Amino acid sequence: MSESRRLPRERQQPVTVDVDGMPVACFAGETIATVLLADGVTAFATRGGEPRQPLCNMGTCFDCSVVVDGIPLTRACLTPVADGMSIRTGQGD
Ligand code: FES
Repeated sequence: MSESRRLPRERQQPVTVDVDGMPVACFAGETIATVLLADGVTAFATRGGEPRQPLCNMGTCFDCSVVVDGIPLTRACLTPVADGMSIRTGQGD
């Protein structure tokens, strides 16, 4: 019988980010996409009025774009959270 193996999981330090004006507790090293999905965010951005969420999770589709500290088109799937970071969702055309 084989045993499944898992990599050790050690979370980094707790941090708080601002998501659309609300504080969200998370851990350093997590991506913005991870934090938003865990927080129940359903529209990272909009395109043609349609809500968008992460699709590729590797930085090519931009469906996870959010505004981070005033910088638009930040890919949530590639960007780790940092304490005090301001994240704005629902931006788009
Ligand atoms: S999910 Fe495709 S770029 Fe982030």
